[in-house]
Amino acid sequence: MRALNNVLVTGGSGFIGSNFIRFLLEKTPEFSGRVINLDVLTYAGNPKNLQDLEEKSERYFFERGDICDRPFVESLFTKYDIDTVVHFAAESHVDRSILEPGAFIKTNVTGTFTLLDASRNYWAASDGARKDGSSLPDMRQDVLFHHVSTDEVFGSLGETGYFTETTPYAPRSPYSASKAAGDHLAMAYHHTYGLPITLTNCSNNYGPYQFPEKLIPLMILNMAEGKPLPVYGDGKNIRDWLYVEDHNAAVWTVMRNGKAGETYNIGGENEWENITLLDALIDIVSEKAGLDAEKIRSNVTFVKDRPGHDRRYAIDCSKIKSELGWKQNVSFEQGLENTVDWYLSNTLWIESVRSGEYRRWMEKNYGGR
Ligand code: NAD
Ligand code: DAU
Repeated sequence: MRALNNVLVTGGSGFIGSNFIRFLLEKTPEFSGRVINLDVLTYAGNPKNLQDLEEKSERYFFERGDICDRPFVESLFTKYDIDTVVHFAAESHVDRSILEPGAFIKTNVTGTFTLLDASRNYWAASDGARKDGSSLPDMRQDVLFHHVSTDEVFGSLGETGYFTETTPYAPRSPYSASKAAGDHLAMAYHHTYGLPITLTNCSNNYGPYQFPEKLIPLMILNMAEGKPLPVYGDGKNIRDWLYVEDHNAAVWTVMRNGKAGETYNIGGENEWENITLLDALIDIVSEKAGLDAEKIRSNVTFVKDRPGHDRRYAIDCSKIKSELGWKQNVSFEQGLENTVDWYLSNTLWIESVRSGEYRRWMEKNYGGR
């Protein structure tokens, strides 16, 4: 089991990263180290996500900066003597990657490369040249770079079958192609330089603090506000949903016990067609918000399909279950209830993320939808 002390979390002000930091500082008594959150705060990063921790935890540090900024990244390794990186920072929304792919290549490819190379540099063992006489220094093995990735790198499934750790990569959007490039770089740094890397590919997450451009929070808020509910194509695309805290527990399990050089798939074993999920969500929101379910249903609007829209994702996560003992803990029913409660009661957070750049971008591209 690895001892992790000074953990650099990238993208810790976003959806999964902020939930991860909260999990690490509040729910892992076995961890007594420091957490350094490196986040540039794009439209998707919100310092409010962790404001309470900033005030009450002496083990939490926030550093605003870009993962592509090599000198800044290097200064953090030195300042905090980083021994662990868990890399969440990314441009993460498929629709945006179709409209503005450049930012995805920069952050997800160049940013990942910058972090890997800074890690390689800082973690090179100080005892000089390799024993075989070549010029590369030995790599410390008491450190870890954990790369957080997505099941979208595997492409699209038909009606049957599952993504496993050996499924060939076949990304189909600029987002998934940029994530695939990051994954390949991470594994290349393991094989070439001996950098201790673990990598996880996870299915669709949902839960508190998810930016309301993604399906579940967008639909909850549109339902509550009586707005149209835009369903892409025929609504029969399938996603495998996992509560964010279950994802983070899996990441932590891999960081502690996963084998360097290995990848692990994480999923909910919880497949839903978008349209069926929407139906279930309407029932929960209408009941909790005291609204008429049929009136909300009348707002379902089939819109033009997402270009290259992957039909089905489904994860086989038997490896992480059997080898590392992880399992999902939150049922979909419970997770959706928590999520709806959270979005209906956190209006200040919603206002803060919807103001500024996000609102302008939505108006430009979708006329404020
Ligand atoms: P998010 O968009 O909510 O958050 C991304 C965070 O990264 C934001 O805080 C943003 O400010 C920060 N960031 C972006 N560019 C940066 C840069 N250049 N330098 C520093 N910080 C930067 O994303 P998320 O949904 O929390 O996803 C986190 C990670 O998990 C991503 O790597 C994503 O590919 C992966 N993932 C997401 C899901 C999902 O369902 N959301 C599923 C599987 C894997
Ligand atoms: O599978 C993991 C991936 O899940 C992550 O890597 C991505 O970061 C994350 O954004 C998510 O990607 P998706 O494209 O699956 O998520 P999104 O919430 O954008 O869409 C979910 C499904 O709902 C998809 O089939 C498209 C559909 N959809 C989405 C939106 C926003 C709609 O029908 N209408 C919508 O308005």
